[in-house]
Amino acid sequence: MSLKTKIAVLGSGNGSNFTSLAEACNKDSLRAKITLVISDVKEAKILNRAKELGIPNKFINPGKFRTKLDDTAEAAYIKALKDSGAQWVALAGFMRILKGDFLRAFEQKVINIHPSLLPAFPGLEAWKQAYDYGVKVTGCTVHLVDYGIDTGRILAQGVVPVLESDTSTTLYQRIQEEEQRLYPSTLARLFNNKI
Ligand code: GRF
Repeated sequence: MSLKTKIAVLGSGNGSNFTSLAEACNKDSLRAKITLVISDVKEAKILNRAKELGIPNKFINPGKFRTKLDDTAEAAYIKALKDSGAQWVALAGFMRILKGDFLRAFEQKVINIHPSLLPAFPGLEAWKQAYDYGVKVTGCTVHLVDYGIDTGRILAQGVVPVLESDTSTTLYQRIQEEEQRLYPSTLARLFNNKI
């Protein structure tokens, strides 16, 4: 029997992707253990969800910047993640850009899910960018994180059609449903060396 891969999750918000990963771990469809959840937002729902599921979780102050971690925070995040034994870091709605020391500490081991078919619509509110542009299909992408914004190597994509009746809100709901299927199944394939 193969050992479980240890992953940590970083998130700033609701934690629906985190929950889908945790459920897949419980069912063993994803042979992994979530060692720690960290948020840069004290009141983030993702921390409550982790608490409810009995998964170690903590808020770590991100420091003085709005879009990235300052040096002290970056060191604290790396230490907490390493101490937890995490081999991989899965971003799930983490709203800060990771760079330098962080990406070197987890070289090629940081994964993200983005709510569009990259390379189209990187950055914020990607579903809204796609809706406003008028595309007929969009979706979500699981990718490795590199030094650019949503530019890392693509691991998997899920397609979501845009319906005539859609608003950007209903479109995003269906993209999130697809995310919750795609993220755990992609990590399962990745950890089984199928990607
Ligand atoms: C997801 O839509 C993900 O694609 C994006 O941030 C959102 C996080 O949602 N990166 P949740 O916190 O997992 O519910």
